[in-house]
Amino acid sequence: MSKLRPTGEATPRTDPLVPGADALSGRLRRAPENFLTPEEIGQVGKGRRDFLRASFLAAAGATAAATLGGRTAAAADAAPNPAGDPDILKPTPWGSSLGQPVAANPYGLPSKHERGLVRRQSPGLTQVPAASVSFAPLQGLFGIITPSGLHFERHHQGWQDIDPTRHRLMINGSRPEFVKTPRVYTMDDIMRLPPVSRMHFIECGANTGMEWGNVAVPTVQYTHGMLSCSEFTGVPLRTLLEYCGADLKAAKFILAEGGDGSSMTRTIPIELVMSGEVMVAYGQNGEMLRPENGYPLRLVVPGVQGVSWVKWLRRIEVGDRPYAAKDEAVHYIDLMPDGQHRQYTSIQECKSVITSPSGGQQLLDKGFFTISGLAWSGRGAIKRVDVSVDGGINWTEATLQTPVLSKCLTRFTLPWNWDGRPALLQSRAMDETGFVQPAYGQLRAVRGTRSIYHNNAIQTWQVAESGDVNNVQIL
Ligand code: MTE
Repeated sequence: MSKLRPTGEATPRTDPLVPGADALSGRLRRAPENFLTPEEIGQVGKGRRDFLRASFLAAAGATAAATLGGRTAAAADAAPNPAGDPDILKPTPWGSSLGQPVAANPYGLPSKHERGLVRRQSPGLTQVPAASVSFAPLQGLFGIITPSGLHFERHHQGWQDIDPTRHRLMINGSRPEFVKTPRVYTMDDIMRLPPVSRMHFIECGANTGMEWGNVAVPTVQYTHGMLSCSEFTGVPLRTLLEYCGADLKAAKFILAEGGDGSSMTRTIPIELVMSGEVMVAYGQNGEMLRPENGYPLRLVVPGVQGVSWVKWLRRIEVGDRPYAAKDEAVHYIDLMPDGQHRQYTSIQECKSVITSPSGGQQLLDKGFFTISGLAWSGRGAIKRVDVSVDGGINWTEATLQTPVLSKCLTRFTLPWNWDGRPALLQSRAMDETGFVQPAYGQLRAVRGTRSIYHNNAIQTWQVAESGDVNNVQIL
């Protein structure tokens, strides 16, 4: 891949559409679903990462080859029918028959036509499905909220559907003087307290972790899908600590402990708790948390990597030093180029990705497209997103869809007229602190290539003349 450095200044944009573009031209084949056959999954099965990479790339190539034939067919489909379009001229079955009764689905489900939009596990990434990841299908989502059933999952010891009447949250001190009145809360105790609701993203620190050294996976679901955003409802942890008489001057850290079998414990600095942002949450998008996401209670730590958002939360301990738990001393640490590890780097820095067009999709014809993506920062609100279609030589400022909230996903869009020539699509986000998302070259100069966590480099999608979109890296 050519080594281009995205240094260009962005051109401010005022036009709503690309001048001269026909808004009905330009059609896109959405990311292929199920691009691995059962045989290919079998090949990569035993957790061998190199196998996985090779298989993903082969699968992406195979899909590209397969869709090339489909391209002609799709183009033919689009040719105008001289007799008119029967779907608008003739009676439809759905317009001339009785529909389903109310409450046919007491809990509503997506349309059967949307069954390809699902979270996906990456076969071979982990040895055991109960200690694994499923990725959110970012390529198919709109706006900023992740439907709860498509929220990514990361479990270290499987998920549990805990009986809320038996769930307890204990608050205590590592020394008696840190918490005057240690308490055990039931769900009922917590849910009677005045609630707050806020929208925040959660990103696993390992998101984009497979791409540190090179291109590894073909679609945005796998490169960036350990990312989701919800409206969370709960009680500020600070309020609960105050009820328990916690000494918030002497306290320096808290330890959050999960109720599953993974012994998930994380240290959180007390300043984050004092800010009022850290929440003991039971609500997600207007209903109770899903079991996979920590039902009935999880910690919400806005801006901080997902591992600190302890699920099935059962205990908070107030203390005066970091706990060096296994998931912060040995795991979730940053391998630096000199071989040393960095611990407690928990903030998710400013990052963005174009979700459409994105890897595995195909532009079926030239013409008008809306480039659309997501930007976020663990340090506050997104200030601006620039988009390049030439690999970072020229940049144009994208439109930010409202709302633009702190530590929340922000949707950006940019109209684009594809002229049918190869293109390199990139987005570069800047947050309210002035932090600008780095290019791969800049990030690797500081962090090397062998880390797993906190990869926030600029993503590049290469659009080939065939319209195929592939994952590439530009330094
Ligand atoms: N909490 C417990 N108790 N057990 C876990 O395995 N996984 C952590 C965190 N909290 C985990 C947990 C990790 S690594 C991440 S990225 C997030 O939960 C994922 O949250 P989600 O599954 O709701 O997306």
